Amino acid sequence: MIVSRLKLKNWRNFQFVDVELKERVFVVGPNASGKSNLLEVFRFLRDIAKHGGGLQQAVEDHGGLSKMRCLAARQHPDIEVEVSLSESNDAKPDWRYSIGIKQEVRGFRQPYLAYERVWGDGKQLLNRPDADDQKDKLRLTQTHLEQINANKEFRVVANFFDSTAYLHLVPQVLRFPQAFAGKEIPGDPFGRHFMERVARTPIKTRRARLKNIERALRAAVPQLKGLTDIKDESGITHLEAVYEHWRPQGAKQREDQFSDGTLRLLGLLWSLLEGDDLLLLEEPELSLNSGIVSRLPALIYRLRNRSKKKGQVILTTHSFDLLSDKGVGAEEVLLLTPTDQEGTQVEKVSDIADVKRLLEGGMTIGEAVLPRVTPKDVNQLEFSFGTHDPN
Ligand SMILES: Nc1ncnc2c1ncn2[C@@H]1O[C@H](COP(=O)(O)OP(=O)(O)O)[C@@H](O)[C@H]1O
Ligand SMILES: [Mg+2]
Repeated sequence: MIVSRLKLKNWRNFQFVDVELKERVFVVGPNASGKSNLLEVFRFLRDIAKHGGGLQQAVEDHGGLSKMRCLAARQHPDIEVEVSLSESNDAKPDWRYSIGIKQEVRGFRQPYLAYERVWGDGKQLLNRPDADDQKDKLRLTQTHLEQINANKEFRVVANFFDSTAYLHLVPQVLRFPQAFAGKEIPGDPFGRHFMERVARTPIKTRRARLKNIERALRAAVPQLKGLTDIKDESGITHLEAVYEHWRPQGAKQREDQFSDGTLRLLGLLWSLLEGDDLLLLEEPELSLNSGIVSRLPALIYRLRNRSKKKGQVILTTHSFDLLSDKGVGAEEVLLLTPTDQEGTQVEKVSDIADVKRLLEGGMTIGEAVLPRVTPKDVNQLEFSFGTHDPN
């Protein structure tokens, strides 16, 4: 199943969004245009729906309603999120989930529902506030999405949100998890518990997956062979591979010795193979050389389509190489454009006449779109560093 349409009101730096989404989505835009904020919507829904989650916890984990609500909006409007879920690209939506969130004006300033609505099977299944909510307002501090007893008719939707994965792997965090102790971030985006995830995977799946990864890695790191998992003296799982480069018989290396690029690619491949319904990727191009980056769109497509269960991948990127793949379609790319008055606008590139003309003229998405997201005054960056620093 995929999210085939997303509507937002007053979410972060977006006052209004209404876009269609495909099985693969590339989110591009200037720095601070809201690419990460757009992905955050799906993590927020996951945090409501997941076991032990819920509306109150999710709002707290995402910084509180006053931070989440669009600062450009006047007064205190509701935050509104609506997603449609379809079986695949171009299929009619099977489900629609819609939520509006307010905050108490006084007292504990608790977030509560302005409304919660669900459609499925061609009819509306939920329309809150209902009569019970009118009698007991406290009920509106919880969604039905988070309650097993209440979401029976649309459990599929809750499960879909729950199985959203977000990856923004930071190699240093994966190598030195102890050094990054502190408050847990839901979903472990930076890979602090990546090795535990590997260890928890049943051995047959784990070994098969590592074999597949080794094969896929071969193009990027040809000297890496025999990727497998081992346990150290304290019973902690590690990844190990032979590097043929250094000695004729090869030297063994563990994950803390792998290069940044190897680790990021490994994490990416692992997540793609894990096959969650919705996979969110932040700038997968980081630490990778351009030859590899240009093959990522095809790799993502291939790995996600291996299983019968087709998952969706939404990624943010700045990479020219990634968007130079001719296989990337204009309807798969969302362009974020900040405006002065109304927050950031989100458009499908295939709906932008100027870009469409360039693409028809034979340009790649990278050539046609990226000039629009490059700062116009990049040279000033150098000037500001060029001034005399009295210290
Ligand atoms: N509630 C909000 N209203 C308006 N802007 C916000 C809000 N929350 C965050 N932002 C702004 O969003 C921008 C960051 O967006 P982000 O998604 O990190 O950008 P990107 O990933 O494209 O670099 C920052 O400029 C931040 O100030
Ligand atoms: Mg970002």
